[in-house]
Amino acid sequence: MMQFLGRVTGDAGAAFSAISTVLGGRLGLYQAMAMAGPVTVRQLAEQTGLSARYVNEWLALQVANEYVVEENDTYLLPTENAMVLSNATSPVYLMGLFGMLPSLYASGKTLEQAYRTGDGVDWDEHGAEFFAAAAESFRPGYAAALVSRWLPSISGAVAKLDRGVAVADVGCGYGHTTVLMAKAFPRSRFVGYDPHLPSIVAAQLLAEREGVADRVTFEFAAASALPARTFELITYFDCLHDLGDPLAALVHAERALADDGVCLIIEPNAPARPSEAGTPIERIFYALSPILCLPAALSGGGGPQALGNHAGEAALREIAAQAGLRYWRLAAEGPVSRVYEVRR
Ligand SMILES: C[S@@+](CC[C@H](N)C(=O)[O-])C[C@H]1O[C@@H](n2cnc3c(N)ncnc32)[C@H](O)[C@@H]1O
Repeated sequence: MMQFLGRVTGDAGAAFSAISTVLGGRLGLYQAMAMAGPVTVRQLAEQTGLSARYVNEWLALQVANEYVVEENDTYLLPTENAMVLSNATSPVYLMGLFGMLPSLYASGKTLEQAYRTGDGVDWDEHGAEFFAAAAESFRPGYAAALVSRWLPSISGAVAKLDRGVAVADVGCGYGHTTVLMAKAFPRSRFVGYDPHLPSIVAAQLLAEREGVADRVTFEFAAASALPARTFELITYFDCLHDLGDPLAALVHAERALADDGVCLIIEPNAPARPSEAGTPIERIFYALSPILCLPAALSGGGGPQALGNHAGEAALREIAAQAGLRYWRLAAEGPVSRVYEVRR
């Protein structure tokens, strides 16, 4: 019992600390520390324009969590820790993930009700802030791997994209993946599809900011809106399992693929059953599935097709085969994602 009590107490400590981690991101504390080097409480309070008394208490937690190092009343955010907490261009930046927490806690009552009725909870019901945080949680991983590792792992994809082809990015959200691909392959044309209007607006603004709006368009539309026989590449970044009817989505994909076209399906790297030595990332996916992914799929009319985020490769492969996409290959794998190459 004591062993178990210790574990759950540790979990509670992590859960309560997370609120201050979110505050550290929102108030610019980690960023100020990353820029400043060793600082006193007073210096950090002055730099951030915050109350020194609060900053003092926040720093004590950061030291207790071993996020920050203290020596002689000065505090340092080590460079390695800044990569995770403050450097938004780093591949291991996690602040987007933490940014999802306030909205998910705020959805508590809605989720309670959904558990009683069996109804779904749409992504939209978690609030506008949630979409931005979710997009920010995936973005660093995509930036690190999509162009350099994932696309080269799909046979013939890079050559086609270099030559210039049509690409659909289904469930594109804020458009980070669409824009990353468009920047890397200027001869190709990209269409992002998403039924969440604020995301489509954000994606359009991103394309303009990144100078690729001439070759990227975004459609306020669902996975079923793809025109027939059009795309050499259709991508699903961390969204297939969120769809109410993933089979219908892949049936549309099969119709929308050009003759030799390919689907790139990126899904969470979480096994179908919890493993004994589960990684921390696996645990995060298992934590998100019952409060986010499964409710989203159920809200899309999911029923028996609602997958959750750890349905596993065999279930996904079976759905693709039913849609007429019988070629299935695990093309690449990282700690967070599995990348599947899927064809007719
Ligand atoms: C987990 S987010 C992934 C967003 C984006 N691909 C990314 O990785 O940042 C799931 C996305 O699927 C979208 N979505 C939900 N239902 C959809 C549908 N029927 N067709 C296409 N996209 C859908 C949501 O609006 C949301 O943007």
